[in-house]
This record gives sequence, structure tokens and C-alpha cells, in this order.
Amino acid sequence: MTVASSFDLISDIHLDFWVRMNNNEVKQRRNIDRLVDSLIPPDHPSSTLVIAGDLGHYNVQNQQLLISFKRFYDKILIVFGNHDLYLVSNGQRRKYSSDSMKRRGEMKQLAEQLEGVVCLDGTTICIDGVTYGGTASWYDCSFGIQTLNMSQSQLYEEWKKSMNDANLIYPRFTQSTLMDFFNHEYEKLEAVIDESQVIISHVSPDWSHVGGKHLIDPVTSFYYFDGSSLLTRAKGKVWCFGHIHTKVDYLHSDGCRLINNALGYPDERTGTKIRTIQL
Ligand SMILES: [Fe+2]
Repeated sequence: MTVASSFDLISDIHLDFWVRMNNNEVKQRRNIDRLVDSLIPPDHPSSTLVIAGDLGHYNVQNQQLLISFKRFYDKILIVFGNHDLYLVSNGQRRKYSSDSMKRRGEMKQLAEQLEGVVCLDGTTICIDGVTYGGTASWYDCSFGIQTLNMSQSQLYEEWKKSMNDANLIYPRFTQSTLMDFFNHEYEKLEAVIDESQVIISHVSPDWSHVGGKHLIDPVTSFYYFDGSSLLTRAKGKVWCFGHIHTKVDYLHSDGCRLINNALGYPDERTGTKIRTIQL
């Protein structure tokens, strides 16, 4: 039995860390099915699955993952994460002419070839009376600027040292194009937030739950953006995100419920399963 006023959530699957890329399609499909079977919630899944970014590094393999999920779900909604832009090998860079957006465009096409699969990119979709809206989103370094008193330029230098995003997204971001990318994604969120009951982004709009060593780490700046003004418009809504591989579910002071249900890498041993969110 499926419940109309619920959806299932997962993010940060990082498929190629769980199932090695393999030219033996039958074997790969079997291994992906096995992974998917292990993620399905023990109760009956909802009819809609939300994936809040970071499918994996290889589009064809990611498409097999979606085919496997389609065994359980009528609708699958995806936003792309930073890893969905990575070109991780010379072969990948050749294939997409060193243009990460070409890879992302192809992934959207491969995903949407499957019936009921939709990639949200500043767009919304209404399913069973619930409007879902989302986009990839990006970080804006505000955490470091506001809480660590660092400048944008200092944070850009830190970003180049610490983030794979600096080396595996092509063409490489400059300080200015990095902010342009954030602004473009932010505009897409602004366009969907008011009409959406469920908002989906890869990056979190709020760092209020951050604690411990992360509070003094500049790298935290690359995991959040300042979504405070968007959150004032999100009272009563549910906002799903990924990027951090730490499960959280809390009510923001402005009344929006923020949820992360990341799988993450095998060595993180999160024990995550797909989670059903009741509306
Ligand atoms: Fe991730």
C-alpha cells in the first residue's frame, strides 16, 4: 500500500563507491539491484522517491541505478550534486570535452528517458497534490565570512586547497565564476520556493545545527549557504538536502523542517536506508 501524503528520501548515494564500474553489464545490474534492495525501507515504500544529489560519477551507471529504483517507485525526483559535475578521469574529460555541464546535461537526458523520472532544475512538479520544487544549489562561503571573519578571497584559497570541486569540475571555477554559479542556483531556488511544499537542494540553506570542530573549520563554508531570507518564506515547508553526510531532521526557528538522509561512502558506515517522510 502506498501513502499519498508521503515521499521517500535519500541523497549522496555515490554509486561508484558501492558498485565498481564494470563492463559486465549483467553483473553490474545485479550488484546495483542488490544495493537498491538494501536501501529500500522495511515498510512499504512511498510512490515517490526524492534523491537530493550526488548520484555517482558515471552517467550510464547512474541510469542503471534509476532503472533499479523504478522497480519500487512510480516517480523519482532528482536534483544534482557537486559530484554529478565531476569528470574523474581522462576518459571522462575527453567524453565531455572538459565541460562538466555537458555531463550533467547528458545525465538529465538519460534520467528523463525513464518514465516518471524528473530532474528539478529551478522547476516544480505537483504529485498527488504536493508541489515539489528544487535545484542543485551551491555554497556561498557565507559561513566563513559571517562566523570566522574570513574574506571571500581567503576562502577561495582555502577552497582550492581542500575541495575536490576545485579540481574535478571543468572548466575550473575562478573566484568570480564560483560566485556566479552560486547566484544562478540561488535565483532558481527563489523562483520555486513560494509554490513548493517540499523544497529539494543538494546544499543546505542553514548551518544552525553545525557543532564541534566544524564550527571553527573554514571548510564548513563549502557545505552551506546563507538561506536565511529564503527560510523566512518557508514556514511549514519541508526542505530536503544532502552534501553533508550526516543525517539530520530538525525544525528551523522560522518554521521550516530541514531533513538530510545521506547514504555517503561505504567507509562512513552511516547505516542509512531510504527514509519515508510523512507530510
Ligand atoms: Fe556527497
